[in-house]
Amino acid sequence: MKPKVYITRKLPEEVVADLYESCQVTMWEKEEVPVPYEELEKQVQDADGILCLLTESIDANLLKKSPRLKIISNMAVGYNNIDVSTAKAQGILITNTPGVLTETTADLTFGLLIATARRFEESMDYVKKGKWATWSPMQLTGQDVYGSTLGIIGMGDIGEGIARRAKGFDMNVLYHNRSRKLKAEKELGVTYCDLQELLKQSNFVVVMTPYTPQTHHLISYAELSLMKPTSILINTSRGGIVDEEALYEALAEKRIWAAGLDVFEREPVSPDHPLLQLPNVVALPHIGSASIATRTKMGKLAAHNLLEGLKGNTPPNLVL
Ligand code: GLV
Repeated sequence: MKPKVYITRKLPEEVVADLYESCQVTMWEKEEVPVPYEELEKQVQDADGILCLLTESIDANLLKKSPRLKIISNMAVGYNNIDVSTAKAQGILITNTPGVLTETTADLTFGLLIATARRFEESMDYVKKGKWATWSPMQLTGQDVYGSTLGIIGMGDIGEGIARRAKGFDMNVLYHNRSRKLKAEKELGVTYCDLQELLKQSNFVVVMTPYTPQTHHLISYAELSLMKPTSILINTSRGGIVDEEALYEALAEKRIWAAGLDVFEREPVSPDHPLLQLPNVVALPHIGSASIATRTKMGKLAAHNLLEGLKGNTPPNLVL
């Protein structure tokens, strides 16, 4: 009998074709609306495998209700939406989609950094909302990117991609990571730094760590107070790594200059969120990996991981 697979969001045909061929597939039919939790609860009961997105919370309750589940294939590199320890206790495999999104996410991060430093959003408003009355010397002036110091917190593949881009802008790159990255130090000329020093010295601080209990609110009041009043915080990783109340205070009191955020503690972020009321916040809707080519590759990789796991092989991107 073919294994039963549940796909939690409507995905393009070319992404799921192989799954349809060798599995009994049920796919949530909507693209823009996540599957309700109750429906997911129903669907996992007899599923052998699920392909899910970062929007689905695969928690202990769901896992306990899915006795046949062998593998959870997450279409994302981050997998903080899955209760890893319960899955492990039940012998369920977890896979993610690293590698294919590295350059696309590094592009977005660098783009957001420039957009925040040079005030793209406010400037676009000037043009589109008719506020542009004259050219004036200090109008919409921002911070220079070229030649400045960039601090990357979390030097994985995407961190290295950002560092490579920064070198093209003649930036001095510092990084903080659990372990030293000697190859990157040699090849990219990046310098290891403890977190406090990185926060003190950097003009741009980019948060790029995985989100775990250890990195929850890694950037909070004490950390933000070390940054310069001209410095900018960029987060394209996970919202929960930054304490949003602390960030709001630092931005509102102009203790740091601006923030560029592609991620939030609760997504979708409410338009009423205090951070979004500030002119020095540039906000995006979690689009780090959102190029057509990369999202297609992520979907195909997630499908491939799932199939390999269901065949009893070791999937290429096993995280557990
Ligand atoms: C996106 O945020 C991902 O983890 O792939």
